[in-house]
Amino acid sequence: MSGRTLPAGGLPPVSLGTWQMWGGEAIRGVREALDLGYRCVDTATGYRNEQVVGAGIRASGIRRDELLIVTKFPEEDAGRERETLARSLELLGVEYVDLWLMHGPLDAEGSLAVWRRFIEAREAGLVRDIGVSNFRPAQVDDLVARSGVVPAVNQVAFGPRYFDPALAPHHAALGIVVQGHSPFSENDLEHPVLRATAERHGRSVHQVLLRWHLDHGVPTVAKAVSPAHLAGNLTVRDFSLTPAEVAAIDRIADGARTDVVS
Ligand SMILES: NC(=O)c1ccc[n+]([C@@H]2O[C@H](COP(=O)([O-])OP(=O)(O)OC[C@H]3O[C@@H](n4cnc5c(N)ncnc54)[C@H](OP(=O)(O)O)[C@@H]3O)[C@@H](O)[C@H]2O)c1
Repeated sequence: MSGRTLPAGGLPPVSLGTWQMWGGEAIRGVREALDLGYRCVDTATGYRNEQVVGAGIRASGIRRDELLIVTKFPEEDAGRERETLARSLELLGVEYVDLWLMHGPLDAEGSLAVWRRFIEAREAGLVRDIGVSNFRPAQVDDLVARSGVVPAVNQVAFGPRYFDPALAPHHAALGIVVQGHSPFSENDLEHPVLRATAERHGRSVHQVLLRWHLDHGVPTVAKAVSPAHLAGNLTVRDFSLTPAEVAAIDRIADGARTDVVS
């Protein structure tokens, strides 16, 4: 089996999400984030903002080889993989992306056909790494068994609401990085356990959530345009949670499982 070639150190703890960032706000937000120290930017064909994300990256003046640029392939474009990738590269204004993700699974045969084109794109040097998003462990297993190529990353909704203690060990055994998305929009920011933890540390619930991801070894993609939010989300290493606090946040999922969309 072949797989992961992510650079040493892999993904940073917090990447910049850009869903629903458009126009001048996106250019400013990306540039500001890179000025503050973000080094990984997450977009997608489906976000329809690759051009402004690319403009924000160029405005930052940061060298291309110091950045990780992630984009995603919409599964409804199956059969047009190379054209879609060429368009992403053109819009972003780059010669390669660091990580190209299948935005979501198809049926087993469909995912395999797309994955084969992903492997070819990597061999052609158009993408450094290839991965998937929103795949369940069984779908990952199936793709790996059929193709012999392990995704570098599976980007999934991850947070106390979705916490599945079996996911990270399953992926780690295959050498796949679990990257969380939507750390705030998919979680209950008013949950009393989160609020009490934040108060104890003099931090925001958002910062506690990002720290909890770090404690689970899960890098995350968080979206922000407000300069205060962008800066605050980079302070995740400035404080720590106790094992008991991490465990209490883990248990939030037990009360939430019934309404988790499968
Ligand atoms: N693979 C997938 O299928 C998938 C699906 C969804 C999302 N994603 C990726 O994950 C990223 C993040 O998910 P998301 O866009 O759903 O949103 P999110 O990161 O969960 O939440 C973003 C919201 O939180 C606010 N915020 C950020 N930091 C804050 C802070 N420190 N204090 C208070 N508020 C804060 C932002 O406000 P401001 O913007 O006003 O600063 C924005 O309203 C996306 O942008 C996208 O890149 C991937």
